[in-house]
Amino acid sequence: MANDLLVARDLTRHYEVSRGFLKGHAVVKALNGVSFTLRAKQTLAVVGESGCGKSTLARQLTMIEPATAGVLNIEGVDVARADAATVKAMRAKVQMVFQNPYASLNPRKTIQSTLDEPLYINTALSAGERRDKIDAIVAKVGLRPEHVRRYPHMFSGGQRQRIAIARAMILNPRIVVADEPVSALDVSIQAQILNLFMDLQDEFETGYVFISHNLSVVEHVADDLLVMYLGAAVEYGEKSTIYARPLHPYTQALMSATPAIREEDRRIKIKITGELPSPLNPPSGCSFHKRCPYAVERCKQEVPQLREIDGRQVACHRVEEINA
Ligand SMILES: Nc1ncnc2c1ncn2[C@@H]1O[C@H](COP(=O)(O)OP(=O)(O)OP(=O)(O)O)[C@@H](O)[C@H]1O
Ligand SMILES: [Mg+2]
Repeated sequence: MANDLLVARDLTRHYEVSRGFLKGHAVVKALNGVSFTLRAKQTLAVVGESGCGKSTLARQLTMIEPATAGVLNIEGVDVARADAATVKAMRAKVQMVFQNPYASLNPRKTIQSTLDEPLYINTALSAGERRDKIDAIVAKVGLRPEHVRRYPHMFSGGQRQRIAIARAMILNPRIVVADEPVSALDVSIQAQILNLFMDLQDEFETGYVFISHNLSVVEHVADDLLVMYLGAAVEYGEKSTIYARPLHPYTQALMSATPAIREEDRRIKIKITGELPSPLNPPSGCSFHKRCPYAVERCKQEVPQLREIDGRQVACHRVEEINA
C-alpha cells in the first residue's frame, strides 16, 4: 500500500555457530520468519524477552546485516535484490538509536564532529549549511548551542541519548529503529526521552520501530505492537486492541508481569516459568509450549501459524478456547 514504509515478509536470520564443538554443525535461528508492516508516521513496537531476536531484527531492518531469507521492502525497494548503490542510499534513510548512549558515541569526537559526519558523508552541503543543520537539530533535541563543542563524557546519560537521537535524525531519515533506547536510563529520564521521540516524529513524520522488553515503556509510544517469542511473532496488531485484551498466553504473561500496566488490564494472571529455550535447539511444535499453562499434546507437535482473531493476528492453537 502507498502508506507502507517498510514491509517484512518471513524475514529470517540464522547464524552458524562459529565456535566450540558445534562449530559449523549448528544454526541459531535468531529470527525465524517474521512478517509485519510499518506504516508512514507510525510507531511499531517490538517486545519480547532477552534473546527473542529483537536486536537481530533491528540489524536486518537497518541493513547492517543481510537476511538469510524472506523479503524486506523499504519504500517499495526490495532490499535483498537491490544493487549496492541502492542499498547504500537506503541505509541513509533508516537510522538506528542504540540502547547504550555511553557506547554508541565516539568519546574522542566533539558533538559537532559526531553530528557533522553523516552530513559530510551523505550530502553535498557546504560547511556553513552543515553547521546550520547541526544547530537546528541540537535545539530540537533540547541541547544548548554551546554543547556542540563538548565531548560525550561531559554529558549525562539522558543528554547523551539526546545526542544519539540528533545523530539519527540529522539526515531526516524515513525510519528510525530504536533498540531499547531508554533501558539504560534512569526511570525519571525515560519519559523525557520518550516524549522527545514523539515530538520528533510529529515534526519529521518519521516511522519508528521501537524495540523494548518493557510493555509499559512502549504503551504510550506505539501504534502497532509485535510480540516476539524465540525468533517469531506470537501476537501482532494495533496496540490498543492488544492492550485492551491480549489473546496469546505469552502476551498475557508479559502484561501480568508489567506492574505499570493498569490493574484492570492485568486481570489475567499468568506467570512465565522457566527459561527462554535456546534458539539453537528450539522446542518442537509451538515454541512456547514448555512454559505455557494451556499446552496440550497438539502444541508439542504442530507449529501454530498466525491467524486473524478478534482484530489482530495470533499464533496459538487454543486461542479461542482459552479466551472464551
Ligand atoms: N552473531 C551471532 N551469532 C550467533 N548467535 C547470535 C548472533 N547474534 C545473536 N545471536 C543469538 O540470537 C538470539 C537472539 O539474539 P538478539 O540479540 O537478537 O536478542 P534480543 O531480543 O535483542 O535480546 P536482548 O533483549 O537481550 O537484547 C540469541 O540467542 C543470541 O545468542
Ligand atoms: Mg537486543
